[in-house]
Amino acid sequence: MNILILGSGGREHVFAKKISESPLCDQLFIAPGNAGTALCGENLNFAVTDFQNIKAVCLDKKIDLILPGGEDSLVAGIADFIKADAQLNHILVAGPSKAGAMIEGSKDFSKIFMQKYNVPTAAYQTFTNTSITEGQAFLSTLKPPFVLKADGLAAGKGVLIIDDLKEAQESLAEMLNGKFGKASDKVVVEEFLDGIEMSCFVLSDGTNYVILPEAKDYKRIGEGDKGLNTGGMGAVSPVPFANAEFLSKVETKVIVPTVNGLKAEGIDYRGFIFIGLMKVGNEPYVIEYNCRMGDPETEVVLHRVENDLVELLKATCTGDLKNIKMQISAATATTVFLVSGGYPEAFEKGFEITHIDAVNDTTVYHAGTKNEGGKVVTNGGRVIALTSTGNNMKEAIAKSMQAAELIQYTNKYYRKDIAQDLIHYNEHI
Ligand code: AMP
Ligand code: GLY
Repeated sequence: MNILILGSGGREHVFAKKISESPLCDQLFIAPGNAGTALCGENLNFAVTDFQNIKAVCLDKKIDLILPGGEDSLVAGIADFIKADAQLNHILVAGPSKAGAMIEGSKDFSKIFMQKYNVPTAAYQTFTNTSITEGQAFLSTLKPPFVLKADGLAAGKGVLIIDDLKEAQESLAEMLNGKFGKASDKVVVEEFLDGIEMSCFVLSDGTNYVILPEAKDYKRIGEGDKGLNTGGMGAVSPVPFANAEFLSKVETKVIVPTVNGLKAEGIDYRGFIFIGLMKVGNEPYVIEYNCRMGDPETEVVLHRVENDLVELLKATCTGDLKNIKMQISAATATTVFLVSGGYPEAFEKGFEITHIDAVNDTTVYHAGTKNEGGKVVTNGGRVIALTSTGNNMKEAIAKSMQAAELIQYTNKYYRKDIAQDLIHYNEHI
């Protein structure tokens, strides 16, 4: 098969590496890709939402399968675009339609969906700029901290958690008056869930599903989980506090009603479902859905999946997941992101990255990198994800940290405490 991956992050490098290793893949293209994906296939220089260029490439390169990495092209309707075009509609798209991508594209839609299909989630109400006063009154009935969520995509910045009632009421008014542009035309106000976060991942073919390994990511820029939110500074899989009993609850209480609910809504959902969970006591509550894999979660989750990725994606698109048996490595995987100093705020790019070849026993997944004049240079906030496996968390993370020290570029930064809370977790129980 000829395959086109859309995206340029660490997640897409994992996809590209796995796909290039599959005997089912003939030619692989990545748009726009990075210096890592260039080692696995041919990078094409256009944006993931540039549907006219996607069409031209599909025809020119005789593409058989498209794998959208992030949510942007899915929410913009790439699957619908391919399906509606007579020259393209034979192409498989491993991702949901625009309607399916609404599970991520609209918090209000996902909350209504969860309530309708009895998926456990925080109690909530949704407000608009004609119901600001009602929203402020609703806030005063809740216990702090207060959780305010912009309905639409807001580049990961649309959720505010505020301790003070007055401040929360003011923020609600600001959001409904355009703080996040159109994304906060509606705001979900919800109950705060006090627990520990993790994520699980599913591939659905519209009827059947397979469950991928669970993961936990580290969102904040600073050690001890302090400072600004980022796309993710590291991740681990498996998650030590998610035992078999808890994961079986996740399947029956969350995954089954989600897959069945999408079908009942008439949404033919063929693709990844990323479920952000809060474990409250021993019960799972859904914080959010995403219509794609996570980054850096993919760097640990797919690292443990031993199945042929092309076979998995093909079965997802053709409704054949019931014939797939998942093969998951028992090893622990950890990933540590090297980022550009200053990220997630302003940072400089274009610094040469050296000593990549000195790394062994750790996989180097590129994210914000590009080839320039025969060198690999930094080209984004999150630069390189270093994924290692071991018999336990301690062993795996030691390898990732060693690799993190080896690779050099100006203004390199990474969190040295990734996984440390979980190494100690086992010692406390
Ligand atoms: P979301 O974009 O919905 O995943 O929210 C971003 C982050 O806010 C989550 O990863 C959680 O850390 C936190 N969060 C969201 N909703 C809640 C909630 N109801 N209770 C506690 N924390 C939450
Ligand atoms: N790491 C979080 C995400 O991909 O949304």
